[in-house]
Amino acid sequence: MKVTVIGAGNVGASTAYALAQKGIVNDIVLIDIIEGIPQGKALDMYQSGPIEGYDTRVVGTNDYALTKNSDIIVMTAGKPRKPGMSREDLLAVNIEIVKDAISKAAKESPNAILIVVSNPLDAMCYGALKTSGFKPNKVIGMAGILDTARFSAFINMELGASMKDIHAIVLGGHGDTMVPLIRATTVGGVPLTSLVSKEKIDAMVARTTNGGAEIVKLMGTSAWYAPAAGTVQMVESIVLDQKRVLPCAAWLQGEYGLKDIFMGVPTMLGKNGVEKIIEMPMNDDEKALFKASADKVRATVDETAAMMK
Ligand code: NAI
Ligand code: 2OP
Repeated sequence: MKVTVIGAGNVGASTAYALAQKGIVNDIVLIDIIEGIPQGKALDMYQSGPIEGYDTRVVGTNDYALTKNSDIIVMTAGKPRKPGMSREDLLAVNIEIVKDAISKAAKESPNAILIVVSNPLDAMCYGALKTSGFKPNKVIGMAGILDTARFSAFINMELGASMKDIHAIVLGGHGDTMVPLIRATTVGGVPLTSLVSKEKIDAMVARTTNGGAEIVKLMGTSAWYAPAAGTVQMVESIVLDQKRVLPCAAWLQGEYGLKDIFMGVPTMLGKNGVEKIIEMPMNDDEKALFKASADKVRATVDETAAMMK
């Protein structure tokens, strides 16, 4: 198994390292436009192998020839947010990076599965799908796992319950309109609504929606540890054909009443990429929130499509 990680910045390097530590793939190629950085970081990771006990070979490069025949391509290249910016503000600059990087990577690895992380996520998934020409089930966006993890972490902070027993799900676009599904959130099987007051749940939802911006405000750039962990969880499910059901951005073709759009929905991930999109029954309020989220994503995708012409 060979995984290419495009972008040797905060998210890309953390993803490569977390994946190497799992010891589940033979080769990781870290690629960036900056000379020296991917090579240096990869060598550093390679040299962690004897300490951590993994045999994964990590190589850094600026040359796509080395990415040839990758099984998975993880796209993290792109500008991150600065304080005060929305993810959508990154659209114009990042779509050019997606076009450049994905066209080169897809040429070398036409049978790969593509995991997109660059923002604005749902629109960059669209750009990656169109640029690569890959089948839609092989282009998947990482965001729902991160948004869900943030919501789960806030529940843990409130209740002190083990992370392992908190089951939450956040769907929709990766932006201000994301949809945490409170009705489906449980702690050890007990509904969250019976454990925490509505006011506190509303506050946790607001903090989740603002979760990326909270970190950007603190450190002047966006998060990378949890984003890398989410990406590795997706890679692991594909590499080991685990069939995990994870909230990921998937290309909808009628599911949830939507067509030709990437949205965060429960997906089953296995060796073929998205093997199933699972429809979550929603009440009218949830449907309205999901539709508002889809409308926002659609507007950004329309802008992206116009930029790609
Ligand atoms: P970073 O600035 O640390 O790293 C980005 C890297 O991309 C840099 O090393 C840069 O040289 C490289 N790059 C730029 N153009 C390139 C090209 N054409 N080909 C190859 N490499 C290129 O940024 P960071 O923090 O790693 O974030 C990366 C992206 O991931 C951002 O767009 C950010 O918004 C997004 N992100 C998405 C998350 C999600 O939940 N989907 C979570 C966190 C970040
Ligand atoms: C995040 O949510 C910036 O999308 C990134 O942290």
